[in-house]
Amino acid sequence: MICIGPEDRVFVLTGAGVSAESGIPTFRGVGGLWRNYRIQEVASPDAWARDPALVWEFYSMRRRVAAAARPNPAHAALADLEKKIGDRLFMCTQNVDNLHEQAGSRQVAHMHGELFVSRCDRCPRQPFADTSTYEPPAVVPQCECGGRIRPHICWFGEVPFDLDRIFAALVRCTVFTAIGTSGGVEPAASFVGQVCGRARTYYVGPESPANHLVFDECFQGEAGSVLPMLFTVE
Ligand code: APR
Repeated sequence: MICIGPEDRVFVLTGAGVSAESGIPTFRGVGGLWRNYRIQEVASPDAWARDPALVWEFYSMRRRVAAAARPNPAHAALADLEKKIGDRLFMCTQNVDNLHEQAGSRQVAHMHGELFVSRCDRCPRQPFADTSTYEPPAVVPQCECGGRIRPHICWFGEVPFDLDRIFAALVRCTVFTAIGTSGGVEPAASFVGQVCGRARTYYVGPESPANHLVFDECFQGEAGSVLPMLFTVE
């Protein structure tokens, strides 16, 4: 159990594992491959420069899978925690699906971007909601400025979103909980190291993450089973 006192500020970091029970495959769980491409080969600025149609094929597949997924009890438990403690909860996700929002979470920092949002790769126009898929024979969508429309995703080698807000929340938190993330991708993997000694730190997942030694306590199990009974709010 994780007890949340009236003065506690909670930082929750979720990874692909929180959506696994909703039917969205994790990255390392499937060996990090898609049609024999390593994720880095279809989710990087180099891949976009080399073969934008292949990149859109990859993200169109991910849009189809995510569109068919529904929130699981882990997402519901986190939305319930937000209802109980309001802005004393900072929700940060590495996931690009919108299952936290579908479950009722209102404030979610998507540090790796959002699957159902696109943007121009050239002009400063605002990212926009986009549920379309672009697979052959569809062409890569174009912007009026002549640029190409790309997924609003933080690719390998790019800077994650919302880092100022995320680091400010890490400084303030007294309870840090990571859920369903292998602890192998920066900067998220180092968040727990930035708060340990100052905040109580917990991990939830069926396997120990790479950074497990830094956590005070690990709750072994699937997020959908563990989370509904995990938090008690005083
Ligand atoms: N409940 C909780 N955790 C689970 C479950 C589950 N039902 N099923 C699997 N897991 C755990 C796995 O044990 C693993 O530790 O989820 C973790 C998923 O790890 P990854 O596939 O590496 O996903 P993640 O840590 O989110 O990857 C981080 O890497 O590829 C990039 O940008 C991508 O955001 C992603 C980042």
